[in-house]
Amino acid sequence: MAKFDNSFTDELRQRLSLVDVISRRVPLTKKGQNYWGCCPFHNEKTPSFSVSEEKGFYHCFGCGEHGDIISFVMKSENLDFIEAIKELADMAGLKMPEIKQKSSAQIEAEENYVKITERATQIYQYLLYQDVGKHALEYIKNRGFTDEMIKKYRIGYAPKNNIISTKFADIKRDKLTSTGLVRIGEYGPYDFFRDKLMFPIFNAHGQVVAFSGRSLDGSEPKYINTSDTELFHKRQTIFGFNFARDSIHRNNRSIVVEGQIDAIQMQVHGFGETVAPLGTSLTEDHIAILCKSNRNITFCFDGDNAGQKAAVRACTLVLPFLRDNSDVKFAFVTGGKDPDEILKTSGESAMRKIIDNATPLIDFLWESVNKNYLTNTPGGRAQAEKYLKNCISKITDKVFQNEIEQEYNQRKFNQWHKWKQQKYTPTIEMPDVDIMTINMIKSIVQTYPELGEKYMDFLISLNISFDDEIQKTELSLKDAEKFIVSFKLQRYIKSLMNEKSKLLSNIPENAGDDYRNKLKEIDENIIKANEKLELLLDINK
Ligand code: UTP
Ligand code: MN
Repeated sequence: MAKFDNSFTDELRQRLSLVDVISRRVPLTKKGQNYWGCCPFHNEKTPSFSVSEEKGFYHCFGCGEHGDIISFVMKSENLDFIEAIKELADMAGLKMPEIKQKSSAQIEAEENYVKITERATQIYQYLLYQDVGKHALEYIKNRGFTDEMIKKYRIGYAPKNNIISTKFADIKRDKLTSTGLVRIGEYGPYDFFRDKLMFPIFNAHGQVVAFSGRSLDGSEPKYINTSDTELFHKRQTIFGFNFARDSIHRNNRSIVVEGQIDAIQMQVHGFGETVAPLGTSLTEDHIAILCKSNRNITFCFDGDNAGQKAAVRACTLVLPFLRDNSDVKFAFVTGGKDPDEILKTSGESAMRKIIDNATPLIDFLWESVNKNYLTNTPGGRAQAEKYLKNCISKITDKVFQNEIEQEYNQRKFNQWHKWKQQKYTPTIEMPDVDIMTINMIKSIVQTYPELGEKYMDFLISLNISFDDEIQKTELSLKDAEKFIVSFKLQRYIKSLMNEKSKLLSNIPENAGDDYRNKLKEIDENIIKANEKLELLLDINK
């Protein structure tokens, strides 16, 4: 059978959630770690079909059927392997790659690659504890790394002399260069990493596929990373993911920080679910990988301008992945610090506070729009609206998209259109409004901002505050408008009656035509208003 490049099926597995795919055919409920439903492969009334997102497998305790995302599609839709992959690729929005047999030469090349990087890792680990690596060890210990951490993350030291290019002389040049560890220069091969503190970069299986080297003498750049190779694609690799995966499932969220030392320190200080992109900024692939476990991500960036920018970028990237049950937040570490420094100076609890107080995506987006556009000018508002609209359009879940749109409409109305803050100075005395009616009016205005705009003058005259959040009304737009108009009429009638009784209780001594005409006018107005009200409420129908 033709075999796919494993990397494509891996990518499918990474991008698609087993639970999502199975849920299309079998309703599942979460119980404990796993999801349960009635087995689609045999007849049953009580669920014995279990799905583990974490392990990527389903298993039926009734009939013993089991498998992964690909075999599920094959069996449940009676497709062959290639057809199933095609269907999954469609779901993931990926293009099918050319089908090519992985040649034995390729398999061998991959094995050789990992053998080389593994051997290099061991050498670097060893050298960190030798004389030649003394300054590196001192440096990393000063940064709060214990021997245990150094061992777990397999941190090492690449010396100044070309250790790989000389020690690995038994290995063919092109094999060495394929790992990115060795380059060929004018004077022959040389090591890419020299005098660097070495952080191995692991793939999902825990194999070392690349390195990130930190300079120790203050030279720039601070970090250099292996350039992309056959087995390492920076855009698709998240630092620390292999260690974080279990915690991401267990804690049902991931935390994304900017730097790899931050990620390590977070992982060992109670935030096992932390990862970091590598060097470059976050990519869509990084988010897709995280969202495969769950769609709850807390981004934790530096509080500076660059951090704000990174957050806006993350926000844009994550929007297409949002679902109505996603919990995506943005936390900022202020004072020019990063998570590593916070943990060191203020401890885990301070860090937890920062993470717990993270701003939900909806609020973050709103705040950043208000920061970046001059929303007190029509032009600025128009730009801001366009930007928001574009963001909202990225949300693929239509119902959710609609909700978000409404939410922002309301905020625009409440915060950009300042009419509510105007004070009304009454010319005639108006009756007080009861609290039930006030709340009804507020919830109508919050649900239907357009009514707020339409009856702005009247609403201002009520002198009530529209600032607080209140439950939305269940009235339809038409009924809501009816409510406002009828209330407006009733209020008008009441004020006329007040005026009339005032006139009647205080008849001037010289009351004449003027006085009578005034009373007549009020009566007529009351009748007119009552007629309007009856018509509105369809009382005669
Ligand atoms: P930072 O400049 O914030 O560094 O870069 P840091 O993580 O705090 O580094 P330490 O604490 O001084 O060791 C954030 C991340 O950007 C990448 C690295 O992955 C780094 O962790 N980076 C930074 C590079 O790839 N190259 C650089 O020159 C600098
Ligand atoms: Mn740092």
